[in-house]
Amino acid sequence: MDSFLIKGPCRLQGTVEISGAKNAMLPLMAASILTGGECVLENVPELRDTLTMKHLLEVLGVPVELGGGRMVMDASRVDHHEAPYDLVRTMRASIYVLGPLVAKFGRARVSLPGGCAWGPRPINLHLLGLKALGAEIKIDHGYIDAAADRLRGNEIILSLPSVGATINLIMAAVLAEGKTVIENAAREPEVSALAAALKKSGAIIEGEGTSRLEIEGVSSIRPFRHRVIPDRVEAGTYAAAAVLTGGEVEISGCRPDHMTAVINKLTSCGAEIDMRDNGLLVRGPEVISPVDIETGFYPSFPTDMQAQMMAVLCRARGSSSVMEHVYTERFTHVPELRRFGAQIILDGSVAVVTGVDSLQGAPVMATDIRASSALILAGLVSEGETKVLRIYHIDRGYERIEEKLRALGADIQRIKS
Ligand code: EPU
Repeated sequence: MDSFLIKGPCRLQGTVEISGAKNAMLPLMAASILTGGECVLENVPELRDTLTMKHLLEVLGVPVELGGGRMVMDASRVDHHEAPYDLVRTMRASIYVLGPLVAKFGRARVSLPGGCAWGPRPINLHLLGLKALGAEIKIDHGYIDAAADRLRGNEIILSLPSVGATINLIMAAVLAEGKTVIENAAREPEVSALAAALKKSGAIIEGEGTSRLEIEGVSSIRPFRHRVIPDRVEAGTYAAAAVLTGGEVEISGCRPDHMTAVINKLTSCGAEIDMRDNGLLVRGPEVISPVDIETGFYPSFPTDMQAQMMAVLCRARGSSSVMEHVYTERFTHVPELRRFGAQIILDGSVAVVTGVDSLQGAPVMATDIRASSALILAGLVSEGETKVLRIYHIDRGYERIEEKLRALGADIQRIKS
């Protein structure tokens, strides 16, 4: 397995171009199934998860061409309705084919995703919602079997504004008979991006970006051509890296309006952040101020930035608290950050981070996408060598991270094995 070798400390300086958002692209890929035709995506990030979803679509009978940030998916001959265990276990977002398959073909068999590195990640809301739309759901030998003649619109009240459930249910409801209302829907920009693409294709959706979605089912939708929105988590990660290293980084091609909570916290840490139409200029402070973080659903501070923010706070002057409300056990980076000399006390879903004057490079192990990027950030400001093992997680979610960091002045090499 590849690893990264980082020699620190460094101060990042320069411009970084942000890639398309993984979490916006994956639902759009699944949504191609609904159209029964050739769909095109632009600004596609070339990630491991892109290849996993491409593989899954190909298993279903959707040939996918990918190159130069452009993807063409031909969903005119879907002839298979099963998402196998081997693909779902490497990428939970494979569950996104469930809604489209059952809406378009009346049946789907999708391996049930297990837990993940930081604890349970149930999909009960996806299944309850599909049942409300009239699907018959059975769990059979580790697979979800869903069937329906034609889905029927209904009112669905989500007990939590789950991104994944909202996305799966939008895709199911666009081809259902009649009207669906989703209350307590997720408001993340990735949900609105999906709704925008589907609306261009003839779907009738109102309320995206709010907690109440109204979807009037139609009998068919047209293929789409859509540009994937910029990755707000990738942009936030580079902004955090600029702050942590006391650097000056222009983050180009991002959407500052999707990043308000992160920008506000980094500003409270002492960063100077200039917002532009299409980017940010981030100047890190000489001394990082401690801040308290509470993750939550959009527009609150994103759980996907919690680990990177914790890496920043490891160097703050004073103590900060980090409360994780979305995934209460998402702290696998804590013992690894301690290996750099960080002082973190973890009590349930609250971490208290007391900043230290310096961190020391160490061998560390990545456990998920965002934990991995936090370890890389810590390596950038640590004295000496850091080796980050198991970086396949990073390759799932960050496009060419080592090239982008090297262009900003970091000493980071991929060690192939
Ligand atoms: N939840 C349930 N039941 C469900 C679904 C969710 O209880 O049926 C709970 C979860 O346990 C969690 C909360 O609801 O406590 C939110 O989960 P959500 O469904 O919103 O998460 P997700 O759709 O599985 C997406 C992103 C994650 C990101 C979360 C939260 C994708 C492919 N994944 O996951 O991204 O952390 O939303 O914002 O969009 C990442 O990119 O590294 C990543 C993990």
